[in-house]
Amino acid sequence: MSSREALARDLTLARERTLRLVDLDDTELLRQYDPLMSPLVWDLAHIGWQEELWLLRGNDPARPGLLEPNVERCYDAFQNSRASRVDLPLLPPTDARTYCATVRDKALDSLDALPDDADDFTFGLVVSHENQHDETMLQALNLRTGPALLDSGTPLPPGRPGVAGTSVPVPGGPFVLGVDAADEPQSLDNERSAHLVDVPSFRIGRVPVTNGEWRVFIADGGYREPRWWSERGWQHRQNANLVAPQFWRPDGSRIRFGHVEQIPDDEPVQHVSYFEAEAYAAWAGARLPTEEEWEKACAWDPAVGRRRRFPWGSGEPTGALANLGGDALRPAPVGAYPGGASAYGAEQMLGDVWEWTSSPIRPWPGFTPMLYEQYTQPFFGGDFHVLRGGAWSVAAGILRPSFRNWDHPIRRQIFSGVRLAWDV
Ligand SMILES: [Fe+2]
Repeated sequence: MSSREALARDLTLARERTLRLVDLDDTELLRQYDPLMSPLVWDLAHIGWQEELWLLRGNDPARPGLLEPNVERCYDAFQNSRASRVDLPLLPPTDARTYCATVRDKALDSLDALPDDADDFTFGLVVSHENQHDETMLQALNLRTGPALLDSGTPLPPGRPGVAGTSVPVPGGPFVLGVDAADEPQSLDNERSAHLVDVPSFRIGRVPVTNGEWRVFIADGGYREPRWWSERGWQHRQNANLVAPQFWRPDGSRIRFGHVEQIPDDEPVQHVSYFEAEAYAAWAGARLPTEEEWEKACAWDPAVGRRRRFPWGSGEPTGALANLGGDALRPAPVGAYPGGASAYGAEQMLGDVWEWTSSPIRPWPGFTPMLYEQYTQPFFGGDFHVLRGGAWSVAAGILRPSFRNWDHPIRRQIFSGVRLAWDV
């Protein structure tokens, strides 16, 4: 398949996914489920607006577009806070769908018209952007209260007993962190450039921390003992009255996309903040990995002294290797993907849950902002920690071991979990 055919396929897959997520009554689409999130109809039209701006208007907002200026202003994410978007004069759902479809038709025409040697990075960015908003819409739907709108998710492979709480060694030495455009043409600005980094030996969790392990932390007074928490973390724990991961209920059940269910012990814990992750790690006699450590454990192959494209090798992700794509609506039990192990034996590095690292988001040497200049650069130096590895909610086609995500240390509506690390 040519890269152009692959992009056309990925654009179509992303749009099918978006349309499944917004296959709801207009009243649902216009509601704000939580001040942290936009109404779903905003995400829908914003997906179309960015696509129009990047692909059809040459990233020049002064060039006339399909929407009236006062309407298109609503869809600039940097001009409108999430909390404020519900009050904007947004396109009604029917108009938003029509707008997105019109833009997409023109975008596919322009993809067809590209010369063979043209740079198609922008199309990949559009695919990534749409899929990232699909994940955001899943966060919003998970925060919605009331009877479930979605079913409880597609089946997943069973886990393996005995892997929770175990770790694998990663010997010290230099490795290549980050990627170059030549290797990963669709990599985003913050993943570039590839450069040598040396990290001392460490151990890393074979799998993410599970709900069952987290329950022991709670029972042992983890949320009551300031000694496990950083000063800021404890302050926040008190202010927000945290006693368990978000969506857990006092009777041992949880709410997931409107379904009340028992919390599976062998599933990676989700919906914990950085501050909680840090406290859990301290209680467990461990720490969070740095993102350099995380990427080495995920992608480096010490036998050949090269990066692997994916933890398991060069083959594209499949349902037998990782839980990605968003249909499961939950992480897979630990040990579900032995075939997806990295060269060091770390499993479930891609998919399942985003994993907090101790690292703030910062540029790799040679950082150059891409066409979407505000994607990463405004966040450097801010109060953000990097999360790695994607979650069950991330589209397989946009995820790489070098992919970086970041958020405030208090956030936990995201599909965030924990993998531990240890000095050796
Ligand atoms: Fe966006």
